[in-house]
Amino acid sequence: MNRRTALVLVAAALLAAAGPSSAQQPIVIKFSHVVAVDTPKGKGAEYFKKLAEERTKGRVKVEVYPNSSLFKDGEEMEALQLGSVQLLAPSLAKFGPLGVREFEVFDLPYMFDNYDELHKVTNGPVGAALFKKLESKGIVGLAYWDNGFKVMSANKPIRMPADYKGLKMRIQSSKVLGDEMKALGSIPQVMAFSEVYQALQTGVVDGTENPPSNFYTQKMQEVQKYLALTDHGYLGYAVIANKKFWDGLPADIRTTLEGAMKDATKFANDIAQKENTDALAAVKASGKTEIITLTPEQKAAMKKALVPVHKENESRVGKDTIAEVYKETGFKP
Ligand code: LMR
Repeated sequence: MNRRTALVLVAAALLAAAGPSSAQQPIVIKFSHVVAVDTPKGKGAEYFKKLAEERTKGRVKVEVYPNSSLFKDGEEMEALQLGSVQLLAPSLAKFGPLGVREFEVFDLPYMFDNYDELHKVTNGPVGAALFKKLESKGIVGLAYWDNGFKVMSANKPIRMPADYKGLKMRIQSSKVLGDEMKALGSIPQVMAFSEVYQALQTGVVDGTENPPSNFYTQKMQEVQKYLALTDHGYLGYAVIANKKFWDGLPADIRTTLEGAMKDATKFANDIAQKENTDALAAVKASGKTEIITLTPEQKAAMKKALVPVHKENESRVGKDTIAEVYKETGFKP
């Protein structure tokens, strides 16, 4: 072997050992979301980062931007479509403005009694069909991540539908949730998640709805005197990517990232229920918010007031989509 060949081989070996050289910059994935780190989604995003960077041996770098630190509600979808960010995990209640109203099937009150029913839908044909609808928007659906069942909160005791009359209630950008609040006689106010604490503190809104993990990690116990355990609806997420970016990845990298996403999804969904149970216990322990457990009569009254929202939104959400979810969950309107 001549001297020149030997030198080339040594140089190649050194370059390989050093991993992606300065010549080959890592592929950067910006992952933006609106919640705190110590939440099911926050921890899921950090776990995905860890797996993606480890398994690609540094060929991919994931930058996670929690708490609306990069893009907030109302900005992040457009940023994704423009490619200013590569990954998001918005709530399923935030796809209406994108023109994919069928996602609001997840917002229909009392549709899911538990996570098992929900997973039949997210892991089944309905979940897949909803992701298909995103492709024409330049978006690819990667996974469904759980959060939990929502509770209502306000600064007055809220037990019966009549207690909500005239209250200004913050909601996500979903018409179904608007109808839900109107069905209780309250006034829905769509607002970015990052603005809710201050709006509650200043009285711009009187109350809101959240899974306990969002309530606690946004310190809403400081600005809400009552929390009612209504479990009246579900809040979860779709992890989505910019389609051009995702399809443009080197095949081996995309396969590795799909594996990392699969494992991060299992991780995030395995911790979701406990994160909410622990958050509720922490709210109780804070002594700042009174936890109201509804009687069966009060729960039945809430259900009676809210279930008509299903029929009202048949044409918007899609009769077929709703019927398929009824089939999967066994829901009887
Ligand atoms: C909300 O806006 O209340 C939630 O969607 C925030 C989140 O991402 O959990």
